Amino acid sequence: MSLQENAIYPAPPEYNTFKKKIQELTGIDLDAYKYQIHRRIHMLMQRWAVKSYDEYYKTIANNPEKLREFLDYLTINVTEFFRNANRWWELRDNIIPQMYKDLGHQRIKLWSAGCSTGEEPYSLAILAMETKVATPQPVLAGDIDQGVLQKAQGGVYQKRQITNAPKEWVAKYFTDVSGDNVQVKKEVKDKVKFKHMNLIKDHFESGFDIILCRNVVIYFGAETKSALYRKFFDALRPGGYLMTGATEQIFDHKTIGFESAGPFLYKRPKK
Ligand SMILES: C[S@@+](CC[C@H](N)C(=O)[O-])C[C@H]1O[C@@H](n2cnc3c(N)ncnc32)[C@H](O)[C@@H]1O
Repeated sequence: MSLQENAIYPAPPEYNTFKKKIQELTGIDLDAYKYQIHRRIHMLMQRWAVKSYDEYYKTIANNPEKLREFLDYLTINVTEFFRNANRWWELRDNIIPQMYKDLGHQRIKLWSAGCSTGEEPYSLAILAMETKVATPQPVLAGDIDQGVLQKAQGGVYQKRQITNAPKEWVAKYFTDVSGDNVQVKKEVKDKVKFKHMNLIKDHFESGFDIILCRNVVIYFGAETKSALYRKFFDALRPGGYLMTGATEQIFDHKTIGFESAGPFLYKRPKK
């Protein structure tokens, strides 16, 4: 091991400051990674010839492309259409129909928070079309990573990304583009509005009926998660739902004010 490597393994004190700043910027707790993430980060720094953690933080914070590479490197953009399909059929068959009954009219405001390359918000748009729900506003789709948002706007996907979609929906909502790729049709695209946003720092709109925040908080610290779930609570209308990822239980949901409405589904009470 060279002298320089010795200085990095174990991580130097500046790495702690870097970790703290990354958490403030993105919510991501680098300590939550099981492997020695600082080694990987160090490799990225070498690739960009960045000499210190401070310089690297500034690079990431001021340059969306570097932030994208950083997030990519942590491999946190993985997604697909109708991921964990049973949860989607629960929305289609129970939650949305019940919502019609409760609201007495068909109008629904949806948000995919941490939408990655677009599969989740487009799935929501398709579900809205299938359940004939009126969405006066397009589905809000937000992510911190400009690069994924750009890809999302193109709406082009490999066929393996849509294997959970019922066959008849594939023909209805996608067109073949080339070889192994499909593109979401314009009417689906028109139902989604992509927005660059940082869930940790940004102010949220309110009045949402359903918010999906799935597989986003896996690397967030406990306090960051709790603060985010409180913000979601306030962003929901009374009677609205928050759906989390298939392993993401909200342990303090009662303290926040949510009632449990099924696995990984939380409801803001109607009052
Ligand atoms: C694994 S993807 C989840 C995509 C989709 N929700 C799903 O479950 O398939 C996680 C996404 O969260 C985004 N993300 C991470 N931290 C974020 C933050 N602070 N604000 C907004 N988006 C964030 C990442 O950029 C990434 O695209």
